Amino acid sequence: MDQRRCELRNVGDDDETLLRDVTPTLPGSLRRTAQLAPDDLRDRTSMLAGRYRLGQRLGRGGMADVFLAHDHVLGRLVAVKVLHAQLAGDDQIVERLRREAAALAAIDSAHVVAIHDAFLERGGDIFLVLRYVAGRELGTLLDEEAPLAPARAAGILAQVLDGVAALHERLLVHRDLKPSNVVVDDRDRAVLIDLGIALNRRGRRLTPVDAVAGTPAFMAPEQRLGSAVDGRCDLYQVGLMLLHALTGVDPAAHPGDVPALVVRVPRRLRRVVECAVAPDPGDRYADAVRMRVELATAALGVAASETDLS
Ligand SMILES: Nc1ncnc2c1ncn2[C@@H]1O[C@H](COP(=O)(O)OP(=O)(O)O)[C@@H](O)[C@H]1O
Ligand SMILES: [Mg+2]
Repeated sequence: MDQRRCELRNVGDDDETLLRDVTPTLPGSLRRTAQLAPDDLRDRTSMLAGRYRLGQRLGRGGMADVFLAHDHVLGRLVAVKVLHAQLAGDDQIVERLRREAAALAAIDSAHVVAIHDAFLERGGDIFLVLRYVAGRELGTLLDEEAPLAPARAAGILAQVLDGVAALHERLLVHRDLKPSNVVVDDRDRAVLIDLGIALNRRGRRLTPVDAVAGTPAFMAPEQRLGSAVDGRCDLYQVGLMLLHALTGVDPAAHPGDVPALVVRVPRRLRRVVECAVAPDPGDRYADAVRMRVELATAALGVAASETDLS
């Protein structure tokens, strides 16, 4: 995710110093925004709400682009998630973004991205302002470094479970936990992003456009079947990420091979993974806190006994 790292040279002098401090060695500049921005942003000043100067694009989804930006009022970097202009007239999509914003606002966790503001006015630019998480997607980390040492894998996924527990406390089910929806910084601190299809278990869907109910390769069996889901589908998805981290093999690329991959997990952690990815939600951990405790305990056992790696 090197492209997220950006020097943003042509902001004010003070800003330039600040930005260089935050992103010391990184290539790219706002002058490049014109090439990086999608068509609908190319003709604008790349300044949103007179306040957020857009920098490098951090990611692009079906609904929105996410940019690194500089907030001129508060003098800090943020991430802005800008709805594609052609979707701005679609009330259902805007409502979905509003609900994503409200869900994020309800969460107070170091492991779920914080939201600073939401601009959802008809006719204007429609975007969310999020805390910028300086790091790379978990997927990139896994591509480059998996298999991870068990203690490291457990440490990262335990933080993901902290984030999941915070969502579940608010009766939110993420439903789309996957390596591209977790950002990990250079000290291995993990943050969940993208509540785009989260489900409010009080019965209201966060997304009225429910055709997309997850990413097929990462779905729990009950999601695939279109059955009712609860927080245990998130635990399944964390289990898949753990499996990937511990084996170096992406289970999403080998959907039929999950049981065979589980056998390759170090023995003490195997039980945790096996329980998390059980096809029947009734066989999984009852909640994220329980899974987190078991994961941490098992990781300690592995650290204490290297022979467990056989
Ligand atoms: N707050 C953030 N800080 C850093 N990078 C982010 C942030 N939010 C999103 N990204 C990057 O942008 C990508 C797309 O954002 P996401 O919210 O997942 O959008 P989508 O709904 O299109 O999947 C992410 O995979 C991540 O790489
Ligand atoms: Mg995403």
